[in-house]
Amino acid sequence: MQYRQLGRTGLCVSSVAMGCWPVSGLTSPDVNVDDSLATLRAALDAGISFLDTAWSYGTSEELIAQVLSERTADVVIATKGGLDRTSDGRQFHAASSVDLKRQCDGSLRRLRRESVELYYLHAADPAVSLAESAGAIAELIQAGKVRSAGASNLTLAQLREFHAICPLTAIQPAYNMLQREIESEVLPWCRAERISVCVYWPLLKGLLSGRLSREHVFADGDGRKKYPMFQGQEWQRNQDLVDELRQISDGLGISLTTLVVAWTVQQCGITSALCGAKRSWQIRESAAGGGLQLHPEVLEAVERALSQRGPAETRAAV
Ligand SMILES: NC(=O)c1ccc[n+]([C@@H]2O[C@H](COP(=O)([O-])OP(=O)(O)OC[C@H]3O[C@@H](n4cnc5c(N)ncnc54)[C@H](OP(=O)(O)O)[C@@H]3O)[C@@H](O)[C@H]2O)c1
Repeated sequence: MQYRQLGRTGLCVSSVAMGCWPVSGLTSPDVNVDDSLATLRAALDAGISFLDTAWSYGTSEELIAQVLSERTADVVIATKGGLDRTSDGRQFHAASSVDLKRQCDGSLRRLRRESVELYYLHAADPAVSLAESAGAIAELIQAGKVRSAGASNLTLAQLREFHAICPLTAIQPAYNMLQREIESEVLPWCRAERISVCVYWPLLKGLLSGRLSREHVFADGDGRKKYPMFQGQEWQRNQDLVDELRQISDGLGISLTTLVVAWTVQQCGITSALCGAKRSWQIRESAAGGGLQLHPEVLEAVERALSQRGPAETRAAV
């Protein structure tokens, strides 16, 4: 596993982080507490020292606290505020100063911690100024509840505005082989400002793991089936890409997941890939990508496969 500086904090984080959304089971019908705890333990055993969670991820923060209570582990926890859930699970924006402070206190309670290393604004709240949300996180830092600030799902203009009020340590955008929009402007800006880039969806919700067959039928309650990339012609074209990529990973004697994660963390300016998992073997395969250096000819072969695939429909579900 490679370890990298987290912004200007002096902290180091693993290049593969465990994304703790799937273990909550909120949009995954096939998750139970035992598997979730085992997956978290496997992540730590594989050298992962960076856990990504959020107030809106249901029980995820409590599961992390439980696993960390069993061992002494030097782990950086990132959590997020600004999105909340109704009692029946629907997500809504809640990023006012009052909301963020309440959610942060709630996260610390669930995590059984007095402070957290990194606290992200999960998303801008259309009903609240960004200045208010950024100011609230700056106050949480002053209060000693949060050591550093992050922001997720913001445009470059919004990131600049946030950074001027509350200096950013990390951002959290979507990034993977098929979603590379941040490469043109956001990544260069982060490099110049020494802001870490911790990316979500490295496996495109499992699509780039290659384990979902062309005939895969998503179970009721599986949140993925509403995304265009898992449907119709887009799905078939994505499967063609997976076939091409699998030839490359087979040639190297590694799993497709390991290749995809290694590619992600080797891209210039990427600090860490937040890899979601529900099973121990899954996070082990992803973690293996954090310790693998791909040769230039492998990277070129991946680029060829991607240009053959062409632009993808990766918009969120409606
Ligand atoms: N800031 C934000 O708004 C935001 C949004 C999304 C995610 N995130 C963060 O980023 C993390 C990653 O996103 P994600 O979890 O949605 O997607 P992801 O990491 O792209 O994909 C995770 C899914 O891929 C499958 N998978 C993982 N490892 C595998 C392996 N070795 N072989 C086969 N399948 C494998 C599993 O699903 P199956 O077993 O069902 O196939 C798993 O649930 C999240 O957990 C969360 O921490 C943040």
